[in-house]
Amino acid sequence: MKIQIITLFPEMFTGVHGNSMLWKAQDKGAVTFEYIDLRQYGLGPRKQVDDTPYGGGDGMLLKPEPVVAAIEYAKSQDPDALVLLPTPRGKMYKQSDAKELAARAKGLIIVCPRYEGYDERITRWIDRQYCIGNYVLTGGELPAMIMIDSVVRLLPGVLGGETSAEIESFQTDDENIEFPQYTRPEVFRDMAVPTVLLSGHHAEIAKWRAENGHRAAA
Ligand code: ADE
Repeated sequence: MKIQIITLFPEMFTGVHGNSMLWKAQDKGAVTFEYIDLRQYGLGPRKQVDDTPYGGGDGMLLKPEPVVAAIEYAKSQDPDALVLLPTPRGKMYKQSDAKELAARAKGLIIVCPRYEGYDERITRWIDRQYCIGNYVLTGGELPAMIMIDSVVRLLPGVLGGETSAEIESFQTDDENIEFPQYTRPEVFRDMAVPTVLLSGHHAEIAKWRAENGHRAAA
């Protein structure tokens, strides 16, 4: 899978993509990344990418010309790629979206907004708008990293055990909570591992896990 990221801050991705699972996924050839520096497509000698909003208001918006030029470049490299836009106004991003994007196995182009937003006219070039949670971040880079991580780990051959991505009981979006797990030592401070997990009784263990896979209250 080829993932092209349109951003003013390509260097934000180097730590996240250079380590652990995302690095291994590239090493195995499951994914390639290309960072497209939006500044390159800025207008005039100062490479302007932002401007004030019509109608007034705080902050600056990304201008449409640089964003669309960058998308058109990315599309010319991968015409079938799906264009994603992280935005608080998007559809809530869920595990089912990650699965669908991974199963589609086509390239992705992710546009990372900055400043107070973007000119709405860019959305003609966008296939999916996603919100990663009910809070507001300063740009699309962190949401892009989250979506990338959640998709790439589902690509064939990326995780060690073939099924480890599935074992985590991601049946539906409302049932995607992991059960509690324990490793050695058997007793840590005053806390013992639940005895059923030491029993070797697979049916009892499955029952315990099903009963205990709920979200923490805080
Ligand atoms: N940009 C800023 N906040 C965001 C959020 N919660 N989800 C997606 N994109 C965003």
